[in-house]
Amino acid sequence: MINIFLGAPGTGKGTVSYLLKKNCNYKHLSTGNIFRNITKRNTQIAKKVRDILKKGELVDDQLTFKVLLEDLEKYNLKKDNIILDGYPRNINQAEILLEYFNRHYKDLKISVINFKLPESVIIERLTNRLICPKCGKSYHKIFFELKPQKEWYCDDDGTKLIQREDDKIKSIKKRLEIYNKETKPLIKYFTNRDILINVDVNDSSEEVYKKVFEKCQN
Ligand code: AP5
Repeated sequence: MINIFLGAPGTGKGTVSYLLKKNCNYKHLSTGNIFRNITKRNTQIAKKVRDILKKGELVDDQLTFKVLLEDLEKYNLKKDNIILDGYPRNINQAEILLEYFNRHYKDLKISVINFKLPESVIIERLTNRLICPKCGKSYHKIFFELKPQKEWYCDDDGTKLIQREDDKIKSIKKRLEIYNKETKPLIKYFTNRDILINVDVNDSSEEVYKKVFEKCQN
């Protein structure tokens, strides 16, 4: 089964994905994490992707689908519970994805969870986010439940936490602008296909996790 996590930056898609992976063995595919790993390499593509991510813009659709497919094809799409976190992000990407599923996996169950959160809360969450550069796990500097046990090291692997380059206010504003222009139209696109489920994520991470888990099961 495919669960597409749709939502603006900072709505908690990665945080819920981490919990579903840890507690319920969901497979978590995040195009953002894939690209952040690519930027660690010493190649021309890594340099190009690094510049795009820093500015908060989108990587081109062809490269994005190529890197997604490399990971997606490792799984059994009919048996595994798969989360697509951050993909698709525009109508063209959605068409490419649905066309691929239609061609290779005719009866695949697909649902889209739309994470809904006011923009003021998004900005507060993103400016206080720290991530583990090794495993990608997100933390929050202030909220007790999302703070690391030891300041500022990853609970899972002990790596020193960092702020993401694109969590500076200028990049956040750019990402929100791109979300509104390119990604938001997907709400209507998936509603028209009757596969979109809205979830109000202005709640504690535990509550959000429970709500999303319940929707993923239906
Ligand atoms: P990506 O990594 O996907 O970034 P994003 O969509 O901007 O999403 P975020 O990771 O910022 O937010 P999130 O919803 O996962 O929030 P989180 O759980 O961390 O993409 C990065 C870049 O890669 C893009 O800008 C683009 O350049 C490129 N890219 C990726 N996919 C692409 C695609 N398909 N096409 C083209 N380019 C692509 O939570 C945020 C904060 O809130 C954390 O601090 C967390 O601790 C806290 N928090 C979470 N839940 C709660 C809660 N319930 N209460 C309080 N705080 C909470």
